[in-house]
Amino acid sequence: MAEAWLDLRGRPKDAAYAELHGMLEATLKDLRDEVAAMATFSSLVHHAFGHLWTGFYRVVEPNLLRVGPYQGTVGCLEIRFGRGVCGTAAGTKQTVVVPDVNVFPGHISCDGRSRSEIVVPMFDARGEVRAVLDIDSAELARFDELDVRWLERAVRLLP
Ligand code: SME
Repeated sequence: MAEAWLDLRGRPKDAAYAELHGMLEATLKDLRDEVAAMATFSSLVHHAFGHLWTGFYRVVEPNLLRVGPYQGTVGCLEIRFGRGVCGTAAGTKQTVVVPDVNVFPGHISCDGRSRSEIVVPMFDARGEVRAVLDIDSAELARFDELDVRWLERAVRLLP
């Protein structure tokens, strides 16, 4: 079996995402199990870029997100829509990029090393938010329009 994970650190971001997308597509192709797919997605993205935290918060009841699957240190367990970065993305149905978490009002800190963050909402067939992808980085301003474009595309690979 070929190496089952990628280390894309140091590569130009667009090329890195293109390669990662191919890997995600191939790996998730026939996977219909949501937990297995989210766990595998988290692992691939996390290790490709060396992020601090990479994973999902799922909508488990109206306006409530619950953690998992994810890679990284312990994340806070539940987040209400409208709270923190994850709850803002879920509540507004928009991807949120936070270049500096220290100046985001209401940011929920689960790991003091986190400096920047991106949260991408995912939708069900009716257009309602079913989960969000949350990625935290120890680097300031780690995420930009390229991350938005590639990650919004990548989450559509999930069952
Ligand atoms: N920072 C997030 C909370 C989740 S963790 O960082 C894993 C937020 O403000 O929504």
